[in-house]
Amino acid sequence: MQTFMTDKDVVARVLGHIADGTTDRGDDVWQEPVENYRSEARFKQELALIRSVPMPFCPSTALPKAGDYIARNAAHTPLIVVRGKDGTVRAFKNACRHRGTQLVEGKGCAGAFVCPYHGWSYGLDGALLGIPHEDGFPDFDKLANGLSKVTAIETNGIIFIVQQDPNETQSEAQAMLSGLPEILKDDQIIFSESEMIVEANWKLHLESFLEGYHIKPAHKKTFYPFGYDNLNIIEFCGPHARVTFPFRRIETLKGTADKDLEVSDKLTYVTHMFPNVILAELTYHYTLGILEPLNVSKTKITTYNLTKSTDAAGKDKALADAKRDIAFVNETGQTEDIAMVTGIQRSLHSKANETFTFGHFEPAIVHFHKEMAKRLRRS
Ligand code: FES
Ligand SMILES: [Fe+2]
Repeated sequence: MQTFMTDKDVVARVLGHIADGTTDRGDDVWQEPVENYRSEARFKQELALIRSVPMPFCPSTALPKAGDYIARNAAHTPLIVVRGKDGTVRAFKNACRHRGTQLVEGKGCAGAFVCPYHGWSYGLDGALLGIPHEDGFPDFDKLANGLSKVTAIETNGIIFIVQQDPNETQSEAQAMLSGLPEILKDDQIIFSESEMIVEANWKLHLESFLEGYHIKPAHKKTFYPFGYDNLNIIEFCGPHARVTFPFRRIETLKGTADKDLEVSDKLTYVTHMFPNVILAELTYHYTLGILEPLNVSKTKITTYNLTKSTDAAGKDKALADAKRDIAFVNETGQTEDIAMVTGIQRSLHSKANETFTFGHFEPAIVHFHKEMAKRLRRS
């Protein structure tokens, strides 16, 4: 599978566009029916699609030691993702095998999971360990009633979940992950986590990350003074995409020897992990945003903020830089994007548009809709 370009090639392409007054362009113009953002039936198909592919659940470093777990819904399925005593990450449906009670909430560290309702207990490997007053359940097969398993794949610093039957999807799951570059490293510190509700269809929120055509009008006083009007590099890796947003200071790299090339404060990489996760690599921090579609017009965003690699700068400096960096991004640009996105949501039912048009400067969004359409046709 095609992979993303090296920093050096990205910089060369950006400098070429600056010199020529151009940007990356897509071949196609795409019309997406507005009904696809309103339809309950379509929404259900999209949830099924999200459950059928490897979906990033959290950074590996969110579960550093045995017993660390996170309980959260993924495409409406309540899950527990936990690191076992053998270091392997496993995922289970968060439902007791007695009568379905959720075993844990949020995150924590446990030696075992004990159901709060009647006290059935499960090991970190999902095995049913104990049933209080077991004589009330004669002939009950404990071995066959461990927690219901879901496939977890830990690779590239991310824990991915595949909810469909692993036998059917494993090969496709692996294929979707091959070619993705190294995403997160072990020495990046998670310095904050948050959850936010956005009153908009999940695809509207996603689209706001996938083009730079809006930088000048929508971020006039925030991002635009540091960036360019409509200048991006757009790359694809299977269904995934990466959009590069250069800063004006990238021009100082003209003539820089390859060995001295340091791009971290010269551009932002935004990687779209198909279908519902965004990783932004900013000057001093990374943000992993997982979009959980709550209903057709409401989305929960779970965000992990991580420092950059801490080996070069040292932990304290990396942390201080990251916190300063994030204050700028959150207090400025993100608010502006959400205002646009929720405004679109409010007009969806007005019948003003029967389709939305994505042009030559929005190819990562066109790619997303094509991949969605192709996969939904198949299902
Ligand atoms: S529902 Fe969990 S022990 Fe009864
Ligand atoms: Fe934006």
